[in-house]
Amino acid sequence: MRTPLIAGNWKMYKTVAEAVELVEALLTSAEQGYASEREVLVCPPFTALYPLAPLLADSSIALGAQNMYHADEGAFTGEISPVMLKDIGCRYVILGHSERRQIFGEDDALINRKVHAALKHGLTPVLCIGETKPQRDAGDAETVTLGQLRASLHGLSATQARGVVLAYEPVWAIGTGDTATPADAQAMHAAIRAALASDYGQDIADAVRVLYGGSVKPDNVDALMAQPDIDGALVGGASLKADQFVRIINYQ
Ligand code: 13P
Repeated sequence: MRTPLIAGNWKMYKTVAEAVELVEALLTSAEQGYASEREVLVCPPFTALYPLAPLLADSSIALGAQNMYHADEGAFTGEISPVMLKDIGCRYVILGHSERRQIFGEDDALINRKVHAALKHGLTPVLCIGETKPQRDAGDAETVTLGQLRASLHGLSATQARGVVLAYEPVWAIGTGDTATPADAQAMHAAIRAALASDYGQDIADAVRVLYGGSVKPDNVDALMAQPDIDGALVGGASLKADQFVRIINYQ
C-alpha cells in the first residue's frame, strides 16, 4: 500500500549552519528507527540544499526543494532548474504551494508546466492544492481544490500521475494553528482520490499519496494520520524544531 511520507517545508528559514544543525538532529533520531515504516523528506531553502546533500546522501531522509522553474536552463534571472536540483541530489520538489500562488502570482498553467518538467527529470513533485477561507465559506472548497488538481496535472499519462505526491493544504490552516478537523481533511482527501480514480483509474488513485498540510503539530498529527486517505503530512512551522518534527514523524 502507500508508504506514509512526512515532509518538512522549511520555507524561508534557516541559515546553512542552522540547517546542518537541524539535519544532524534528525539523522540522530533516524538512526534509532521510526515507529513503523515511513518516509521522511526535508525541503530546506535553496542555499542549504547543496551543503545538506552529502549529509543526507546515504540516509533514510530524502532531500527536496521548495520550488523550481520549468526550463532546463536559460536567461531566467533568479530561477533554479530541475536539472540543477537533480544535479545536487534532490529527489522531490514542492510545486504550487499557496504562498507561490498568492504572493508570487503562480497560476495553474505555470504549475502544470513545472509538474511536467519535474517528472521529465526524475524529480517527484509534491503538488500543493487547497482552498482559501472565503472559498470554503462559500461552499466552494471541493470545486476549487479539484480544479487546481486537474489543471495542475493536465496532460499527464496515468503512469506519470502515479509518480506525483499531492498535498492538500487548506490556505486558512497554514501558519494559523487552525488546522482542518480530521473529518474535514479526510472528506477532501477522499474527494481527491475519487477524482484521481475517475481520471486515471483506481490503481493510480490507490497508489498516489495525498499528504495533509496546515498547522500539523505533535498534538494533532495522530488523529490526522488515523484517517484512511491521509497518507502523510507536509509540515511548516513544526518542521523547524527537531523535537517537534521527530514527534510528528513518529505519529502513532
Ligand atoms: P504550517 O505547518 O506552518 O501551517 O505550514 C504548512 C505549510 O504551508 C507546509 O507547506
